[in-house]
Amino acid sequence: MQIRTETINDYKHVFNLNYLAFDNRDDEAKLVERIRFSNCFIRQLSLVAEEQEEIVGHVLFSKAKIIQEDGEKEVLVLAPMAVNPSVQKKGIGSNLIKEGLRRAKDLGYGLVFLIGHPNYYPKFGFQPARNHGMELTQFEVPDDVFMVCELIEGELQQTNGELRYPPVFLG
Ligand SMILES: CC(C)(COP(=O)(O)OP(=O)(O)OC[C@H]1O[C@@H](n2cnc3c(N)ncnc32)[C@H](O)[C@@H]1OP(=O)(O)O)[C@@H](O)C(=O)NCCC(=O)NCCS
Repeated sequence: MQIRTETINDYKHVFNLNYLAFDNRDDEAKLVERIRFSNCFIRQLSLVAEEQEEIVGHVLFSKAKIIQEDGEKEVLVLAPMAVNPSVQKKGIGSNLIKEGLRRAKDLGYGLVFLIGHPNYYPKFGFQPARNHGMELTQFEVPDDVFMVCELIEGELQQTNGELRYPPVFLG
């Protein structure tokens, strides 16, 4: 299995993968398309997992903002993520997240946020964001699913405010 940057040739396969992974619903597949054509898209942070020339996984990290008293800070949000149901629970999702976090840190990002399963993401360093003075009002979600991962030490302590997902996430 290889993790690499998504290319234009992958777009249709990534659409189908998201459709399949999210129970034949196209919301997430269409979200990926909207993000790609927006200014929150970072090409190197749209990653695919390839196995025998087939796209079996995809994860996307995009630009978002924390609105603080002293201004705005650019952060990342992880969404969506999909692994082909026929090869789930083999570590493909984990490898995609780890590579994405590594690249995000290399690009200089200090914080990554997501809304996700509270049992899955802590092993990668994600923790409940509201415990660290972060807020989210765009989506109504329980405290334990709104999570943050600190990539650069000290970033969590220096940052307090409301996470704003880019408009493309709102449909
Ligand atoms: C969420 C999702 C991307 C995870 O992908 P995945 O490739 O199955 O993830 P992993 O294999 O890394 O981890 C899944 C589980 O398998 C376990 N696992 C990892 N490697 C394993 C291996 N070699 N053998 C057996 N189990 C393994 C992990 O410990 C993890 O267990 P947990 O549920 O207790 O945390 C995938 O389930 C999916 O596409 N779901 C539908 C879409 C979705 O909900 N996306 C997330 C919201 S945006």
